[in-house]
Amino acid sequence: MIQSILLKNFRNHETFKLEINKPFVYIYGENGSGKTSILEGIYFCSTTKSHRTSDEKELIKTNEMFAQVVIKNDDQTYEIVVSKFGKRTKVNHVEKRKLSEFLGHLNVVMFAPNDLELIQGSPLVRRQFMDFELLQVDKSYLNHLNTYKKVLKQRNSLLKKVDIKDDYTFLNILGDQLYEQGIILINQRKQFLDELNILFKANYQKFSQNVVDIIYKPDQDEASFKKHLQKQQRQDILYQTTLTGPHRDDFFIRFNAFDSKTYTSQGETRLIVIALKLALLEWIESKTNHKVVLLLDDVLSELDQQKQDIFLKTLPKQHQIIMNSVMPIDMDHIQMIELTKERTHVKL
Ligand SMILES: Nc1ncnc2c1ncn2[C@@H]1O[C@H](COP(=O)(O)OP(=O)(O)O)[C@@H](O)[C@H]1O
Ligand SMILES: [Mg+2]
Repeated sequence: MIQSILLKNFRNHETFKLEINKPFVYIYGENGSGKTSILEGIYFCSTTKSHRTSDEKELIKTNEMFAQVVIKNDDQTYEIVVSKFGKRTKVNHVEKRKLSEFLGHLNVVMFAPNDLELIQGSPLVRRQFMDFELLQVDKSYLNHLNTYKKVLKQRNSLLKKVDIKDDYTFLNILGDQLYEQGIILINQRKQFLDELNILFKANYQKFSQNVVDIIYKPDQDEASFKKHLQKQQRQDILYQTTLTGPHRDDFFIRFNAFDSKTYTSQGETRLIVIALKLALLEWIESKTNHKVVLLLDDVLSELDQQKQDIFLKTLPKQHQIIMNSVMPIDMDHIQMIELTKERTHVKL
């Protein structure tokens, strides 16, 4: 469990310090008071990434030199500092130069409003979701993914040069390599979505009677990918790019008989994504044997009162949860924090 959080020069927080004394923390405050930034800080210290920007200098408070997050859990202290020179991470005050030494200890799952893109966005968003979650729990997945991308790039640049009459020896070699790595990705993604689907359905049922399913849409299966790379190589040569493979994969959420991307309302989509995140939390725990902290950013908005009540009642009790909203709620056994401008600027 996270025991304390310190943000320094992080977004609008000059110094924000929070000692946690209950498993369920609820932060409320007006728009722009820095609620999302607190969750972003925790996420950043867990994953070394922001969930809302790829430009990490944005995290540094205006006119400051660095931003810092320090998180203490039961027995460790994690620290991340970002400046214009890059990022540095420490565990128990000892610098960790290798990302792999820092990652994987403080596990979080975040729900944020832009996660609706998982349903509404392009296939790229869903491929990134599958890849990001898989590589977190299985380091070998990252190797296969990187090799696949490298071979794909080589093959595509060769396809731009090669002529229909040329000798295809090297193209064939690259095709074989692509296939070898590609089927590992396809099989791992399939297994991930199969396992996630079971947990997802169970979580979604708590909110609604609708029938939902995660449906993997691999661009190719094992057999057809091989066939394509061999028999339809001519097409790739004509189009000068690798037309098929796991780099074109997708999945969708079937909602009753429909594709939720075009069918479900904003509120329904939100519940689907929330159930997906709760499933993900259970999935990561089952794979890693580590406790996962749930971060919920503005999760209640766009849910009607009844759905909000169900949601708060069904929140997993055995997990640490840190959530925020604009309004306070009436609930026992939670640590309520009102975020005010004064709090953000507290001097230590
Ligand atoms: N690097 C930064 N320096 C100073 N202020 C920032 C920085 N980045 C964002 N902000 C400001 O921080 C405020 C808090 O943002 P946010 O955490 O999203 O608020 P909330 O979630 O409470 O609505 C916003 O008003 C934003 O303009
Ligand atoms: Mg916010």
